[in-house]
Amino acid sequence: GTIHVFAPATVANVVCGFDVLGFAVNEPGDEVIMRVTNKPGITISKITGDDGRLPLDPAKNTVSVSVQHYLQSVGRTDIGLDIELHKKMPIGSGLGSSSASTVAGLFAIKTLLGDDADPVNLLPFAMKGEEMACGHGHADNVAPALFGGFVLVRSYEPLDIIRLPHPKDLYCAIIFPDVDVPTREARQIIRKNIQMKDAVTQWGNIAGLVSGLFMNDIDLIGRSMKDILVEPVRSMLIPDFYKMREMAMELGAVSFGISGSGPSVFAFARDEGTAHRITQKLQQHLTAINIGSNTYVSTI
Ligand code: HSE
Repeated sequence: GTIHVFAPATVANVVCGFDVLGFAVNEPGDEVIMRVTNKPGITISKITGDDGRLPLDPAKNTVSVSVQHYLQSVGRTDIGLDIELHKKMPIGSGLGSSSASTVAGLFAIKTLLGDDADPVNLLPFAMKGEEMACGHGHADNVAPALFGGFVLVRSYEPLDIIRLPHPKDLYCAIIFPDVDVPTREARQIIRKNIQMKDAVTQWGNIAGLVSGLFMNDIDLIGRSMKDILVEPVRSMLIPDFYKMREMAMELGAVSFGISGSGPSVFAFARDEGTAHRITQKLQQHLTAINIGSNTYVSTI
């Protein structure tokens, strides 16, 4: 058989929830086409949209490596598979690009094998892919890429994934400034220790954000999306981060922050028009300082 699977881009952290919160957007996303072949083992016959940056070697590509781990766990390494990967979003953007591909690959093999186990069981394999991509197996991109919507990683050990509701009328404006911020490095520069008073501020905000999601309270969501732990450090890697925030807020954004480890930034807006005005204005600003960008507007 052959299967086509799409998995979406994701915004990890959602500003205050470092490594524990994430949500999926409708677009962009990646597509995996997987075929069963007669020859045992995995091949990658084609990758598009990556400017030649991703390895075709199945031992080095996060998609095939995670699929291989999955096959080992279900005792099906006898199977032959060919993978095509079509990247429909930029790599290294902070939009969960590697996660989308990996989740699409795992969902494809699960479906091809008729495995009807709970999809949450795919996450440890997807997290292995994350570990390979950036040195750490966080779940705040892979879990929302798999389930869609907002997701809380309540615990890593044991893994406890909670799907959260969200207001319907919430739009997400995403701007990807074309600068290089590798996740691996963006993780190395953050503080290892924090003060109790900072922890108090942060967990108040996380609880406020989660409450706002349940209560459909967009004001509460907006005022809770503050990060005093990670953003002050990572924002230095993003051109005119604070200027972009000011511009987005002036245009009526509910909130503004870094998507995952950056360099993408995102804003929540109450309507699609506002979200488009934000992406346009920020793109113009980046162009004026000679930085190219991609923009996306999506519901959640
Ligand atoms: N939570 C991860 C980080 C997401 O902030 O490093 C990476 O996309």
